[in-house]
Amino acid sequence: MMKRECPASSSLPARMRLTDSFGRVIDYLRLSVTDRCNLRCSYCMRRDVTFLPKADVLSLEELDALCQTFIRLGVRKLRLTGGEPFARSGIMNLVEGLGRRLADGGFDELTLTTNGLLLPKFAAGLARAGVRRINVSLDTLDRDRFRALTGFDGLERVVAGIDAARASGIAVRVNTVALGGINEDEYDTLLAWCGEHDCDMALIELMPIGAGTARPQQRFLPLDRVRRRLEAHWRLEPLSWRSGGPAEYVRVAATGRRLGFIAAISHGFCRECNRIRLSCSGVLVPCLAHGDGIDLRRLLRENGSEAAVDAAIVAAVLSKPEEHRFSVAPATVAAPVRCMWQMGG
Ligand code: 5AD
Ligand code: SF4
Repeated sequence: MMKRECPASSSLPARMRLTDSFGRVIDYLRLSVTDRCNLRCSYCMRRDVTFLPKADVLSLEELDALCQTFIRLGVRKLRLTGGEPFARSGIMNLVEGLGRRLADGGFDELTLTTNGLLLPKFAAGLARAGVRRINVSLDTLDRDRFRALTGFDGLERVVAGIDAARASGIAVRVNTVALGGINEDEYDTLLAWCGEHDCDMALIELMPIGAGTARPQQRFLPLDRVRRRLEAHWRLEPLSWRSGGPAEYVRVAATGRRLGFIAAISHGFCRECNRIRLSCSGVLVPCLAHGDGIDLRRLLRENGSEAAVDAAIVAAVLSKPEEHRFSVAPATVAAPVRCMWQMGG
């Protein structure tokens, strides 16, 4: 990609567009609403993790105000993540407020990534707020394995949560991290299960961040290999459909559902990257794989003007690197500057 000379926002008359220095329009914000989680997936969090002090986490009002700012600057799609978004008390107030903005046409899509445990309680409310699709993380359908991997005997509740979301009319994509030696014998079962439960599925390569930095070379499973194994049993038809994210999709002929491959490591997808991330402590992170971010919390709490906050966001977007430099080779594993659970994946 050519670096452009004149970056900032190539302004549309009616609303701004955030454009980075490589010409990518940034219209997708992933917002971590908490670093807490009610699970402890071994590749993500250490069991003895310490969470941020409450005062360091953005309040719901600050989160809402920043969402309004991003929407004004041209963001069209918002995804709430965590940690676990439903581990944040009062989260539905934020969702409902954003839902009203969505209904007014302020932006195009409100979505969430959740571990599904609390979905039985929240699915109907999400649907009422205008959430049309969500991602649910689920790495195994084996009860004992689920408990060993997440530290909690919660498989049944996650399954009930997925069913509750579907019953409320919310489309579900099951996200499964490919974990060598842990769940590699289950992808056929998961794919069939997703067909039966009316869900799409995405397989995700383990990224060397968070607790995933521990022995990544042992757990890492390249998705090319996974795909070849699946193709021995399933007819996978290429699809040009994209969700606006990094997944490459196929249609599973036998179930009619989509299967996505998110190969963060073995295939770069930075060229089409349209996203930026806000950590729960208010750090705007242009790229998951790079250390630096811009502290919006400090600006907000020091009563920074609207123009100052806007300028900080434009600067962060302009600092977005051309591509990530993840690798699973031990010598080049990036320092775990921040973790998936603070950044929301
Ligand atoms: N690599 C890939 N995916 C990860 N997740 C958490 N840590 C990692 C990692 N190191 C996933 C979770 C969930 C989403 C929030 O991020 O499984 O689907
Ligand atoms: Fe929680 Fe998701 Fe991390 Fe598991 S992967 S501990 S569900 S944030």
